[in-house]
Amino acid sequence: MADDRRSPAAATIGAASEAAQRKDGGAADGGGRWANERYPDYEREVRRSIDFVGVGHDFFTRGKAERLIEIASRLGLGAPGARLLDIGCGVGLVHPWLAPARFSITGVDVAADALIEARRRQPTIDYQAYDGERLPFAEASFDLATAICVLHHVPPRRWPHFLAEANRVLKPGGALLAFEHNPWNPLTRLAVSRCEFDRDATLLSAPALSRLMSEAGYFELSREFLFFTPFDNAVARRMEAWLRRAPIGAQYVAIGRKRRRK
Ligand SMILES: C[S@@+](CC[C@H](N)C(=O)[O-])C[C@H]1O[C@@H](n2cnc3c(N)ncnc32)[C@H](O)[C@@H]1O
Repeated sequence: MADDRRSPAAATIGAASEAAQRKDGGAADGGGRWANERYPDYEREVRRSIDFVGVGHDFFTRGKAERLIEIASRLGLGAPGARLLDIGCGVGLVHPWLAPARFSITGVDVAADALIEARRRQPTIDYQAYDGERLPFAEASFDLATAICVLHHVPPRRWPHFLAEANRVLKPGGALLAFEHNPWNPLTRLAVSRCEFDRDATLLSAPALSRLMSEAGYFELSREFLFFTPFDNAVARRMEAWLRRAPIGAQYVAIGRKRRRK
């Protein structure tokens, strides 16, 4: 039975936890199954689950990288050398697409074999292990933090902790950009249901994630949507720009900043 006195974010977590519990008995804390199971053939599995869309995985990876660079620049955090922490980086698929921004990138993940592959692919990027509890960095180390399609794999009861840890390592004024699948898009739900490694996924809506970020101490919250069409041409790009506030894109990015010291 829902508790009426819960905050909206706590109510979201409660409902999502119950759904996750029903689905698979609830994932373990910390890194959960991602830390303990063999890392999936990520690109092949994504390709298989989205084959009905007619575009490759690169279309989505590049789209997120371009939006990330654009938002970082808009927030005044996109200077060359800006320190970016990519939490749940996997094999680092997005990192080559970020090269034009010349960020100083650190990637962390709970899956050791993903990090081995990430280091093999991008030997100049710093990849470090994360136990899913405490990020291995001092407070105020990074200008930007990203979590790209990660939160839906974190058990809902751990969402506040995940967001608070990202906040801790951000510099005052720094920003978290959390990219997520949009559960309000039926094609996204179809792709997720077809993806083997998404069997633990608990999707969260953009407003729900913004509320969680607010409760975790972020401010200047905003969100925008991506991937309204599967086309990559000038018209489609213009549409992406016009529609970014329409909550029907296949994915979204929730943005929040760490408070500046008074
Ligand atoms: C769907 S993959 C996304 C990988 C990468 N961000 C990308 O977009 O290519 C999800 C990643 O989240 C990682 N992950 C799962 N739980 C995590 C946690 N609690 N903290 C950090 N990363 C986690 C997994 O190991 C996996 O690499």
